[in-house]
Amino acid sequence: MSLAGFSLALLGLSSPPASAADGGYVGSNVCRACHPDVWQNFYKNPHYKSIASGVEVPAKTGCEGCHGPGKGHVDARGGKTTIPRAFSLMTPRRALDTCLECHTKDVSRGEIRRSVHTTADVVCSNCHSIHKSQTPKFLLAKTQTNLCYSCHNQVRAQFNMPFKHRVNEGSVNCTDCHNPHGTQSNSWRMGTHPRMVSAGADGEQACIRCHTDKRGPFAFEHAAVRVDGCESCHSPHGSTNPRLLRRPTVMTLCLECHNGAPGFGRQGDGVPTQSGTHNVADPRYQNCTACHVRIHGSNADQRFLR
Ligand code: HEC
Ligand code: HEC
Ligand code: HEC
Ligand code: HEC
Ligand code: HEC
Ligand code: HEC
Ligand code: HEC
Ligand code: HEC
Ligand code: HEC
Ligand code: HEC
Repeated sequence: MSLAGFSLALLGLSSPPASAADGGYVGSNVCRACHPDVWQNFYKNPHYKSIASGVEVPAKTGCEGCHGPGKGHVDARGGKTTIPRAFSLMTPRRALDTCLECHTKDVSRGEIRRSVHTTADVVCSNCHSIHKSQTPKFLLAKTQTNLCYSCHNQVRAQFNMPFKHRVNEGSVNCTDCHNPHGTQSNSWRMGTHPRMVSAGADGEQACIRCHTDKRGPFAFEHAAVRVDGCESCHSPHGSTNPRLLRRPTVMTLCLECHNGAPGFGRQGDGVPTQSGTHNVADPRYQNCTACHVRIHGSNADQRFLR
């Protein structure tokens, strides 16, 4: 036995001599001696399953499933450049590709390669930490809200406004509305990917999953809700206005579209102006939703009056 083989045996490493046939894979046990900290936490890691099951091919098992065949690294007694996949030396895209070798099915529902995060070089290892995760579930580098705020600090202020979704209080999560892996192309807004707002299984708006009474379909839809989306009237994070409205008064909100201007509005022509019987100068008409009570859609009245 060679001296190197002998000292490995002393360390309790049963490293079979790696041959060309096994592609330089030495098995995860060999890593233990020099990386005890990483190893000691690893049995709790979901990636440990590949070791425990004992049925995966070496290229998909344990440490080497991510870091590549370790023989050269072990023979060299360590070193960053000797391990085929040292994440500290990888470009973001290469890190992404490495994770996607196994996770295409999980995260490509979200078309991750085209997501705003990917195009901004924010990849798996920016949000997930394999060895030093702060959340056992999903292996996040920080708890979710802190993770997202670490890069989106301006959003924090929006969730501190007087009217808001209670994200900072922990009752709603960013991922209730967003998919950080990107959104599907069959989203409700005809294949666009607005702000990575996640869509449900049937491609509906995220908001409707909780606000189920707004789901419809209604006999009389308000096109603003169905086509432009909830955020045409609401600030989804937070607002200084009650009901998270984008405008301080309901009237100014409605008149953004119902102002009679030809071609106005995201729909182009065809947004009806107020009826001739309305007189906006008359305070009685200023609280539009006092009469148009079913503003999100109605099964009884075309003008959402009941
Ligand atoms: C699921 C992929 C994956 C598996 C499996 C994995 N690692 Fe890692 N490893 C990474 C990533 C990614 C990094 C970069 C740091 C980070 O993001 O946590 C890393 C970093 C490291 C580092 C650098 C020091 C550090 O803590 O950052 C060492 C050493 C290491 N891994 C050893 C191991 C060993 C030993 C095993 C098996 C017990 C293993 N890795 C299994 C993905 C993996
Ligand atoms: C004989 C000791 C030894 C063994 C066995 C060993 N390593 Fe290492 N490894 C090291 C040393 C030393 C470093 C630190 C290199 C540096 O920081 O310059 C290192 C660094 C690493 C890194 C960090 C690369 C980076 O991104 O900075 C990874 C990943 C890694 N080893 C994985 C493994 C895996 C997987 C195995 C088992 C197949 C393994 N090591 C076995 C000694 C060892
Ligand atoms: C060799 C295949 C393989 C590679 C490469 C791999 N993973 Fe995994 N990953 C798995 C398996 C298998 C599971 C466990 C799934 C289960 O629990 O059934 C898993 C679980 C996870 C989970 C936990 C999911 C949950 O529900 O809690 C996260 C997060 C994750 N991987 C992220 C990553 C990241 C980030 C990388 C790249 C650094 C990566 N994985 C690389 C195979 C892999
Ligand atoms: C911008 C941050 C971010 C990036 C980039 C990211 N993730 Fe995630 N990922 C998360 C968060 C947050 C969750 C938890 C989702 C939840 O709470 O429902 C998650 C959940 C997961 C899960 C478990 C749930 C599922 O969707 O299957 C896996 C697996 C996963 N991520 C893998 C990856 C891989 C692989 C990559 C890179 C290809 C990646 N993630 C990139 C933030 C991110
Ligand atoms: C490592 C930094 C980083 C982390 C962590 C991060 N993001 Fe991002 N995010 C970015 C960058 C960079 C962009 C693209 C530039 C921009 O629009 O700000 C982006 C874009 C976005 C967008 C789309 C904005 C648009 O204009 O389309 C949303 C939504 C988003 N992130 C949500 C999240 C959520 C939710 C989390 C937590 C799960 C998260 N981000 C975590 C850096 C990050
Ligand atoms: C109640 C649903 C909801 C929650 C919860 C939510 N978002 Fe959003 N977010 C949206 C919608 C909808 C948009 C698109 C707004 C638009 O296009 O006008 C958006 C837009 C964004 C944008 C891009 C526009 C901007 O304001 O910069 C970022 C970044 C973002 N969200 C990050 C986050 C983060 C980080 C969290 C958690 C701390 C979070 N969001 C929680 C629904 C939500
Ligand atoms: C995870 C569930 C969830 C999702 C998804 C969600 N909401 Fe909410 N929403 C709530 C809860 C819970 C409240 C009550 C506010 C509180 O926490 O006090 C609320 C409150 C509101 C309010 C204020 C209601 C009032 O009576 O003042 C509006 C408006 C609203 N949401 C719109 C939206 C929009 C628009 C979206 C999509 C961008 C959305 N919500 C997505 C759970 C959700
Ligand atoms: C055309 C503008 C508009 C659109 C689009 C819109 N809303 Fe509203 N929404 C309002 C107004 C105005 C109020 C306040 C009604 C009042 O003062 O009586 C309101 C109130 C609410 C409330 C609190 C009161 C209630 O009815 O439960 C929730 C929750 C809500 N909207 C959710 C949504 C969701 C979810 C969507 C998308 C499916 C949406 N809204 C789209 C205008 C709109
Ligand atoms: C984002 C633009 C937008 C906003 C804001 C908006 N609407 Fe609409 N509204 C529309 C469009 C588009 C239609 C459908 C026009 C059509 O089908 O010809 C419509 C239809 C209507 C109708 C039915 C008209 C008819 O003849 O069938 C009423 C009533 C109405 N809106 C009231 C309101 C009120 C009240 C508000 C304020 C709470 C409001 N709308 C805010 C775009 C908007
Ligand atoms: C006092 C009750 C009341 C108030 C307040 C009110 N409406 Fe109406 N609105 C009606 C009635 C009734 C109709 C249908 C009969 C008609 O045309 O006069 C109607 C019709 C409409 C129509 C359809 C017009 C068309 O040409 O088909 C729109 C759009 C509309 N209202 C918008 C508004 C807006 C915007 C406001 C707030 C500035 C508002 N309404 C305030 C009662 C009201």
